[in-house]
Amino acid sequence: MKALILSGGKGSRLRPITHTSAKQLIPIANKPILFYGLEAIRDAGIVDVGVIVGETGNEIKEALGNGSAWGLKLTYIEQESPLGLAHAVKIARGYLKKEPFVMFLGDNLIKDGIVPFVEEFKKNKPNALVLLARVKNPQDFGVAQLKGGKVINLEEKPKKPKTNLALVGVYLFDHTIFEAIRHIKPSWRNELEITDAISYLIHHGYEVHSHIINGWWKDTGKLEDLLEANRIMLDTLQSQVKGRVSKDSRLYGKVIIEKKASIVHSVIRGPATIGENTRIISSYIGPFTSVYHDAVIENSEIEHSIILEESKIENIGRIEDSLIGKSVVVCRHPRKPQAYRFMLGDSSQVGII
Ligand code: TTP
Repeated sequence: MKALILSGGKGSRLRPITHTSAKQLIPIANKPILFYGLEAIRDAGIVDVGVIVGETGNEIKEALGNGSAWGLKLTYIEQESPLGLAHAVKIARGYLKKEPFVMFLGDNLIKDGIVPFVEEFKKNKPNALVLLARVKNPQDFGVAQLKGGKVINLEEKPKKPKTNLALVGVYLFDHTIFEAIRHIKPSWRNELEITDAISYLIHHGYEVHSHIINGWWKDTGKLEDLLEANRIMLDTLQSQVKGRVSKDSRLYGKVIIEKKASIVHSVIRGPATIGENTRIISSYIGPFTSVYHDAVIENSEIEHSIILEESKIENIGRIEDSLIGKSVVVCRHPRKPQAYRFMLGDSSQVGII
């Protein structure tokens, strides 16, 4: 069995971060989202993984290398533009050949991994097995109707959902999916939709099974979901202090201080994680916050946020519910007249009090 992990896409809901970077490499609890997916695939005993990449391919390749860090054999497959999940499968045909495979969306997190689904697929050998989760807002997802565990209908973002069973970003397929993709047409948004391909299987006599997951999962395509994923993942970690903490600083709850980080005259209230070589000076880092490596936080308060590498936050009252990109500077300016001074990328969002 092989795996296909999708790491291209447009990432329009995470602009401006995705203007310059791959959303799959945004760290959750200071570990890139994509690494969690690779670990889940490895833990299911799969070694050969095709990685779909788009515009941000170089950054992804640099982060994953040849996969040996996870004991995986990675093969990169370039998608010339993000023409849909089924398009990504279509262009991977030469790599996947006739082997069954797991398709894993690179921006999805499944806390308990995928071992039971892979085992179930191997045992029952359906043509497809989809993962489903009960959600409160089924109208935002692909929604399934079941009969005796088999999927009898799928609808993409229905206005009036018939069930609350949403498609989660992990699917298992045998080679019949290629026949299905050959028969579907691009949707209104000009993408080859995987739900259309699965619907083809359902309505042409193929077996599409389902597995309802009870554990936690998250599609991290939007800011609120990234922050929530960060909150949940941080809570699962154990405290560890490798860096330096000054005598007048205080750490409460689960706090990770990575090596070469330094905490000076500050309070860190966990769950929180502070990355390598980051400096926290005269500041308060509140619960559910991840500060990645080489950042500086001085005279500021931050809570329920993700701060990426090399960013600098100085003399700011309090920041909450935020995602701050790489090498961003947020500071107070002594220059008169007193005014807000910005240099913001396209689609940036700023909330001022
Ligand atoms: P989505 O989040 O559904 O799509 P997107 O990345 O284009 O984001 P947005 O809707 O905000 O514009 O994609 C799910 C995963 O699949 C994600 O990791 C990106 C990847 N993907 C591809 O690799 N190729 C594609 O053609 C598409 C549409 C997505």
